[in-house]
Amino acid sequence: MPDLKTSYMGIILKNPIIVSSSDLTLSLDGLKKCEDAGAGAVVLKSIFEEQFIIDADIQADSYSIFPEAVDYMRSGGMMEYAPQKMCAMIEEAKKEISIPIIASINCQTDKLWPSFARQVQNAGADALELNISMLPFELEKTGDEYEKSHMRILKEIRKKVSIPVSIKLVPEITALPNLVWRLCEANCNAVVLFNWFLESDIDIKTLKTRSIKGKGNFFHSLRWVALLSGRVDCDIASSGGVKNAEDLIKQILAGASVVQICSLFYQKGLQEVSNLIKGLENWMAEKKYMVLDDFKGELSFKKQDLSFNDIGEASAFFRKQYLKTYL
Ligand SMILES: Cc1cc2nc3c(=O)[nH]c(=O)nc-3n(C[C@H](O)[C@H](O)[C@H](O)COP(=O)(O)O)c2cc1C
Repeated sequence: MPDLKTSYMGIILKNPIIVSSSDLTLSLDGLKKCEDAGAGAVVLKSIFEEQFIIDADIQADSYSIFPEAVDYMRSGGMMEYAPQKMCAMIEEAKKEISIPIIASINCQTDKLWPSFARQVQNAGADALELNISMLPFELEKTGDEYEKSHMRILKEIRKKVSIPVSIKLVPEITALPNLVWRLCEANCNAVVLFNWFLESDIDIKTLKTRSIKGKGNFFHSLRWVALLSGRVDCDIASSGGVKNAEDLIKQILAGASVVQICSLFYQKGLQEVSNLIKGLENWMAEKKYMVLDDFKGELSFKKQDLSFNDIGEASAFFRKQYLKTYL
Protein backbone atom coordinates (compact mmCIF):
# COMPACT_ATOMS: atom_id res chain seq x y z
CA MET A 1 0.00 0.00 0.00
CA PRO A 2 1.50 3.39 -0.94
CA ASP A 3 2.47 5.69 1.92
CA LEU A 4 0.58 9.00 1.73
CA LYS A 5 2.52 10.81 4.44
CA THR A 6 3.63 14.34 3.64
CA SER A 7 5.65 16.98 5.44
CA TYR A 8 4.01 20.38 5.65
CA MET A 9 5.85 23.18 7.44
CA GLY A 10 7.89 20.56 9.25
CA ILE A 11 4.79 18.74 10.52
CA ILE A 12 4.17 15.20 9.29
CA LEU A 13 0.60 14.65 8.06
CA LYS A 14 -0.78 11.17 7.43
CA ASN A 15 -2.02 12.33 4.02
CA PRO A 16 -1.97 15.58 1.99
CA ILE A 17 -5.68 16.39 2.35
CA ILE A 18 -6.42 19.40 4.53
CA VAL A 19 -9.93 20.64 5.22
CA SER A 20 -9.44 24.32 4.52
CA SER A 21 -10.55 27.25 6.61
CA SER A 22 -14.36 27.43 6.51
CA ASP A 23 -17.42 26.82 8.65
CA LEU A 24 -16.56 23.09 8.46
CA THR A 25 -13.70 23.82 10.84
CA LEU A 26 -15.45 26.32 13.09
CA SER A 27 -16.46 24.02 15.95
CA LEU A 28 -15.02 21.12 17.90
CA ASP A 29 -17.74 18.91 16.50
CA GLY A 30 -16.73 19.97 12.97
CA LEU A 31 -13.08 19.16 13.67
CA LYS A 32 -13.95 15.70 14.99
CA LYS A 33 -15.90 15.03 11.79
CA CYS A 34 -12.88 16.07 9.71
CA GLU A 35 -10.63 13.72 11.69
CA ASP A 36 -13.13 10.85 11.49
CA ALA A 37 -13.40 11.38 7.73
CA GLY A 38 -9.63 10.84 7.46
CA ALA A 39 -8.30 14.34 6.74
CA GLY A 40 -4.56 14.86 7.24
CA ALA A 41 -5.06 18.20 9.04
CA VAL A 42 -7.49 21.09 9.44
CA VAL A 43 -7.20 24.83 9.06
CA LEU A 44 -9.59 26.51 11.46
CA LYS A 45 -12.12 29.10 10.39
CA SER A 46 -10.29 32.45 10.39
CA ILE A 47 -10.50 34.62 13.45
CA PHE A 48 -11.31 38.06 12.15
CA GLU A 49 -10.42 41.27 13.90
CA GLU A 50 -14.12 42.15 13.84
CA GLN A 51 -14.97 38.79 15.44
CA PHE A 52 -17.14 40.29 18.15
CA ILE A 53 -19.35 41.81 15.43
CA ILE A 54 -19.54 38.48 13.62
CA ASP A 55 -20.32 36.63 16.86
CA ALA A 56 -23.05 39.11 17.78
CA ASP A 57 -24.47 38.77 14.27
CA ILE A 58 -24.42 42.53 13.75
CA GLN A 59 -24.88 43.59 10.13
CA ALA A 60 -21.66 44.59 8.39
CA ASP A 61 -23.36 47.84 7.34
CA SER A 62 -23.75 49.01 10.92
CA TYR A 63 -20.07 48.29 11.45
CA SER A 64 -19.12 50.81 8.79
CA ILE A 65 -21.77 53.29 9.95
CA PHE A 66 -20.15 53.55 13.37
CA PRO A 67 -16.42 53.76 12.69
CA GLU A 68 -15.97 55.86 15.86
CA ALA A 69 -17.32 53.00 17.94
CA VAL A 70 -14.86 50.66 16.31
CA ASP A 71 -12.01 53.11 16.90
CA TYR A 72 -13.07 53.32 20.52
CA MET A 73 -12.99 49.54 20.87
CA ARG A 74 -9.63 49.37 19.16
CA SER A 75 -8.10 52.01 21.41
CA GLY A 76 -9.45 50.24 24.49
CA GLY A 77 -7.91 46.98 23.36
CA MET A 78 -11.32 45.27 23.01
CA MET A 79 -10.29 43.73 19.70
CA GLU A 80 -7.46 41.93 21.48
CA TYR A 81 -10.06 39.58 22.93
CA ALA A 82 -11.48 38.50 19.57
CA PRO A 83 -9.61 35.16 19.53
CA GLN A 84 -10.79 34.07 23.01
CA LYS A 85 -13.61 31.82 21.85
CA MET A 86 -11.51 30.13 19.16
CA CYS A 87 -8.60 29.72 21.59
CA ALA A 88 -10.87 27.92 24.05
CA MET A 89 -11.92 25.64 21.20
CA ILE A 90 -8.30 24.96 20.25
CA GLU A 91 -7.49 23.98 23.84
CA GLU A 92 -10.41 21.54 23.87
CA ALA A 93 -9.61 20.21 20.40
CA LYS A 94 -5.99 19.46 21.34
CA LYS A 95 -7.32 17.05 23.96
CA GLU A 96 -9.86 15.41 21.66
CA ILE A 97 -8.31 15.08 18.22
CA SER A 98 -4.84 14.08 17.08
CA ILE A 99 -4.55 15.55 13.56
CA PRO A 100 -2.61 18.83 13.38
CA ILE A 101 -4.61 22.00 13.94
CA ILE A 102 -3.64 25.07 11.93
CA ALA A 103 -5.21 28.27 13.25
CA SER A 104 -6.07 31.08 10.86
CA ILE A 105 -6.17 34.80 11.57
CA ASN A 106 -7.21 37.85 9.58
CA CYS A 107 -6.57 41.35 10.97
CA GLN A 108 -6.90 44.89 9.70
CA THR A 109 -4.59 46.71 12.06
CA ASP A 110 -0.88 45.98 12.23
CA LYS A 111 -0.69 45.67 16.01
CA LEU A 112 -3.34 42.95 16.25
CA TRP A 113 -1.64 40.40 13.98
CA PRO A 114 1.11 39.52 16.50
CA SER A 115 -1.32 39.60 19.39
CA PHE A 116 -3.73 37.14 17.72
CA ALA A 117 -0.81 34.96 16.65
CA ARG A 118 0.51 34.76 20.18
CA GLN A 119 -2.89 33.86 21.59
CA VAL A 120 -3.48 30.94 19.21
CA GLN A 121 0.03 29.65 19.80
CA ASN A 122 -0.54 29.73 23.56
CA ALA A 123 -3.82 27.87 23.07
CA GLY A 124 -1.89 25.00 21.45
CA ALA A 125 -2.30 25.47 17.69
CA ASP A 126 0.27 23.39 15.79
CA ALA A 127 0.75 26.07 13.14
CA LEU A 128 -0.66 29.36 12.01
CA GLU A 129 -2.06 30.45 8.66
CA LEU A 130 -2.17 34.20 7.98
CA ASN A 131 -5.20 34.97 5.89
CA ILE A 132 -3.88 38.19 4.35
CA SER A 133 -6.72 39.08 2.04
CA MET A 134 -5.57 42.40 0.63
CA LEU A 135 -7.34 43.41 -2.53
CA PRO A 136 -5.08 46.10 -4.01
CA PHE A 137 -7.85 48.54 -4.87
CA GLU A 138 -6.37 51.84 -3.64
CA LEU A 139 -5.37 54.24 -6.40
CA GLU A 140 -2.46 55.82 -4.57
CA LYS A 141 -0.94 52.61 -3.24
CA THR A 142 1.64 50.80 -5.37
CA GLY A 143 2.06 47.05 -5.65
CA ASP A 144 5.27 47.43 -3.70
CA GLU A 145 3.41 48.95 -0.76
CA TYR A 146 0.96 46.05 -0.65
CA GLU A 147 3.82 43.61 -0.77
CA LYS A 148 5.64 45.48 2.00
CA SER A 149 2.54 45.08 4.17
CA HIS A 150 2.82 41.30 3.80
CA MET A 151 6.48 41.43 4.79
CA ARG A 152 5.77 43.70 7.77
CA ILE A 153 2.98 41.47 9.10
CA LEU A 154 5.17 38.36 8.80
CA LYS A 155 8.17 40.00 10.47
CA GLU A 156 6.12 41.24 13.43
CA ILE A 157 4.49 37.83 13.88
CA ARG A 158 7.81 36.03 13.66
CA LYS A 159 8.99 38.06 16.67
CA LYS A 160 6.09 36.71 18.72
CA VAL A 161 5.59 33.07 17.74
CA SER A 162 7.75 30.01 17.20
CA ILE A 163 5.16 27.70 15.59
CA PRO A 164 5.30 27.29 11.80
CA VAL A 165 3.62 30.10 9.86
CA SER A 166 2.03 30.01 6.42
CA ILE A 167 0.51 32.83 4.39
CA LYS A 168 -2.65 32.41 2.35
CA LEU A 169 -2.41 34.77 -0.58
CA VAL A 170 -4.87 36.22 -3.03
CA PRO A 171 -3.90 36.02 -6.72
CA GLU A 172 -4.04 39.80 -7.20
CA ILE A 173 -0.38 40.31 -6.32
CA THR A 174 1.94 42.10 -8.68
CA ALA A 175 4.99 39.85 -8.79
CA LEU A 176 4.02 36.72 -6.96
CA PRO A 177 7.30 34.74 -7.31
CA ASN A 178 9.36 37.61 -5.94
CA LEU A 179 6.99 38.18 -3.03
CA VAL A 180 6.91 34.48 -2.14
CA TRP A 181 10.70 34.29 -2.39
CA ARG A 182 11.06 37.25 0.00
CA LEU A 183 8.48 35.81 2.40
CA CYS A 184 10.43 32.54 2.51
CA GLU A 185 13.64 34.44 3.18
CA ALA A 186 11.84 36.04 6.12
CA ASN A 187 11.02 32.61 7.54
CA CYS A 188 7.57 31.96 6.16
CA ASN A 189 7.15 28.16 6.21
CA ALA A 190 4.52 27.82 3.50
CA VAL A 191 2.29 29.72 1.13
CA VAL A 192 -1.29 28.79 0.32
CA LEU A 193 -2.33 29.48 -3.28
CA PHE A 194 -5.02 30.93 -3.21
CA ASN A 195 -7.82 32.49 -1.23
CA TRP A 196 -10.77 33.98 -3.08
CA PHE A 197 -13.04 36.93 -2.49
CA LEU A 198 -16.79 37.05 -2.78
CA GLU A 199 -17.59 37.97 -6.37
CA SER A 200 -19.17 41.35 -7.11
CA ASP A 201 -22.46 41.37 -8.95
CA ILE A 202 -25.18 43.87 -9.80
CA ASP A 203 -28.91 43.33 -9.47
CA ILE A 204 -30.41 45.19 -12.42
CA LYS A 205 -33.94 45.10 -10.94
CA THR A 206 -33.10 46.73 -7.64
CA LEU A 207 -30.11 48.65 -9.01
CA LYS A 208 -28.04 47.44 -6.10
CA THR A 209 -24.70 45.76 -5.89
CA ARG A 210 -24.45 42.38 -4.26
CA SER A 211 -21.84 39.76 -3.43
CA ILE A 212 -22.09 36.22 -4.63
CA LYS A 213 -20.08 33.23 -3.49
CA GLY A 214 -16.82 33.03 -5.36
CA LYS A 215 -15.14 29.82 -6.29
CA GLY A 216 -11.57 28.67 -6.26
CA ASN A 217 -9.85 28.64 -9.62
CA PHE A 218 -8.18 25.24 -9.92
CA PHE A 219 -6.12 26.07 -13.00
CA HIS A 220 -4.87 29.34 -11.62
CA SER A 221 -3.71 27.57 -8.49
CA LEU A 222 -2.14 24.74 -10.52
CA ARG A 223 -0.15 27.18 -12.64
CA TRP A 224 1.33 29.04 -9.69
CA VAL A 225 2.04 25.92 -7.66
CA ALA A 226 3.94 24.58 -10.67
CA LEU A 227 5.77 27.84 -11.27
CA LEU A 228 6.93 28.24 -7.68
CA SER A 229 7.56 24.75 -6.45
CA GLY A 230 11.22 23.89 -5.98
CA ARG A 231 12.24 27.50 -6.65
CA VAL A 232 11.39 28.93 -3.23
CA ASP A 233 12.47 27.67 0.15
CA CYS A 234 9.05 26.91 1.61
CA ASP A 235 6.20 24.44 1.22
CA ILE A 236 3.32 25.14 -1.09
CA ALA A 237 -0.31 24.35 -0.37
CA SER A 238 -2.79 24.54 -3.17
CA SER A 239 -6.30 25.77 -2.51
CA GLY A 240 -9.11 26.18 -4.99
CA GLY A 241 -11.39 24.09 -7.09
CA VAL A 242 -10.20 20.56 -6.29
CA LYS A 243 -13.13 18.29 -7.08
CA ASN A 244 -11.71 14.75 -7.27
CA ALA A 245 -8.62 12.56 -6.87
CA GLU A 246 -7.37 13.49 -10.33
CA ASP A 247 -7.24 17.18 -9.34
CA LEU A 248 -5.47 16.26 -6.11
CA ILE A 249 -2.84 14.25 -8.02
CA LYS A 250 -2.30 17.10 -10.50
CA GLN A 251 -1.58 19.55 -7.69
CA ILE A 252 0.97 17.19 -6.13
CA LEU A 253 2.61 16.60 -9.53
CA ALA A 254 2.85 20.39 -9.84
CA GLY A 255 4.61 20.51 -6.45
CA ALA A 256 2.01 20.99 -3.71
CA SER A 257 2.90 19.40 -0.36
CA VAL A 258 -0.76 19.49 0.68
CA VAL A 259 -4.06 20.33 -0.93
CA GLN A 260 -6.61 22.40 0.97
CA ILE A 261 -10.20 21.65 0.05
CA CYS A 262 -13.56 22.92 1.19
CA SER A 263 -16.27 23.42 -1.49
CA LEU A 264 -16.17 19.74 -2.44
CA PHE A 265 -16.88 18.79 1.17
CA TYR A 266 -19.69 21.32 1.36
CA GLN A 267 -21.26 19.91 -1.77
CA LYS A 268 -20.74 16.18 -1.30
CA GLY A 269 -19.91 15.73 2.38
CA LEU A 270 -16.74 14.84 4.24
CA GLN A 271 -16.97 11.21 3.08
CA GLU A 272 -15.29 12.54 -0.07
CA VAL A 273 -12.01 12.52 1.90
CA SER A 274 -11.91 8.71 1.68
CA ASN A 275 -12.69 8.79 -2.06
CA LEU A 276 -9.77 11.17 -2.57
CA ILE A 277 -7.50 8.92 -0.54
CA LYS A 278 -8.59 5.79 -2.41
CA GLY A 279 -8.16 7.53 -5.77
CA LEU A 280 -4.67 8.70 -4.83
CA GLU A 281 -3.64 5.28 -3.49
CA ASN A 282 -4.92 3.44 -6.57
CA TRP A 283 -3.16 5.82 -8.94
CA MET A 284 0.11 5.56 -6.99
CA ALA A 285 -0.12 1.75 -6.97
CA GLU A 286 -0.77 1.74 -10.74
CA LYS A 287 2.24 4.00 -11.32
CA LYS A 288 4.33 2.02 -8.82
CA TYR A 289 4.95 5.05 -6.63
CA MET A 290 5.58 4.13 -2.99
CA VAL A 291 5.67 7.62 -1.42
CA LEU A 292 4.46 11.09 -2.44
CA ASP A 293 8.02 12.31 -2.90
CA ASP A 294 8.34 9.84 -5.80
CA PHE A 295 6.22 12.18 -7.92
CA LYS A 296 5.74 15.42 -6.01
CA GLY A 297 6.80 18.34 -8.20
CA GLU A 298 7.73 16.10 -11.15
CA LEU A 299 5.71 18.35 -13.45
CA SER A 300 6.74 21.62 -11.86
CA PHE A 301 8.29 24.34 -13.97
CA LYS A 302 11.65 23.65 -12.32
CA LYS A 303 11.69 19.93 -13.00
CA GLN A 304 10.48 20.06 -16.57
CA ASP A 305 13.14 19.55 -19.20
CA LEU A 306 14.03 23.22 -19.08
CA SER A 307 17.67 23.68 -18.27
CA PHE A 308 18.00 27.37 -19.02
CA ASN A 309 21.07 29.33 -18.20
CA ASP A 310 19.00 32.25 -16.97
CA ILE A 311 15.42 33.36 -16.68
CA GLY A 312 15.69 35.58 -19.79
CA GLU A 313 16.42 32.48 -21.82
CA ALA A 314 13.42 30.79 -20.22
CA SER A 315 11.06 33.62 -21.06
CA ALA A 316 12.33 33.74 -24.64
CA PHE A 317 11.60 30.05 -24.88
CA PHE A 318 8.06 30.50 -23.55
CA ARG A 319 7.34 33.40 -25.88
CA LYS A 320 8.36 31.31 -28.85
CA GLN A 321 6.83 28.05 -27.94
CA TYR A 322 3.45 28.85 -26.40
CA LEU A 323 3.45 25.25 -25.44
CA LYS A 324 4.32 25.27 -21.78
CA THR A 325 0.94 25.74 -20.25
CA TYR A 326 2.18 27.21 -17.01
CA LEU A 327 2.96 30.61 -18.51
C1 LIG B 1 -18.28 29.06 3.45
C2 LIG B 1 -16.82 29.35 3.31
C3 LIG B 1 -16.14 30.00 4.32
C4 LIG B 1 -14.77 30.28 4.17
N1 LIG B 1 -14.11 30.92 5.19
C5 LIG B 1 -12.78 31.15 5.08
C6 LIG B 1 -12.08 31.74 6.15
O1 LIG B 1 -12.61 32.08 7.20
N2 LIG B 1 -10.74 31.94 5.98
C7 LIG B 1 -10.07 31.57 4.84
O2 LIG B 1 -8.85 31.75 4.77
N3 LIG B 1 -10.73 31.00 3.82
C8 LIG B 1 -12.05 30.78 3.90
N4 LIG B 1 -12.72 30.19 2.87
C9 LIG B 1 -11.96 29.84 1.63
C10 LIG B 1 -11.56 28.36 1.64
O3 LIG B 1 -10.73 28.04 2.73
C11 LIG B 1 -10.83 27.97 0.33
O4 LIG B 1 -9.59 28.64 0.26
C12 LIG B 1 -11.64 28.31 -0.89
O5 LIG B 1 -12.99 27.96 -0.70
C13 LIG B 1 -11.12 27.60 -2.15
O6 LIG B 1 -11.13 26.20 -2.00
P1 LIG B 1 -12.34 25.28 -2.54
O7 LIG B 1 -12.45 25.52 -4.02
O8 LIG B 1 -11.96 23.88 -2.19
O9 LIG B 1 -13.58 25.72 -1.82
C14 LIG B 1 -14.09 29.91 2.99
C15 LIG B 1 -14.79 29.24 1.98
C16 LIG B 1 -16.13 28.96 2.11
C17 LIG B 1 -16.85 28.24 1.00
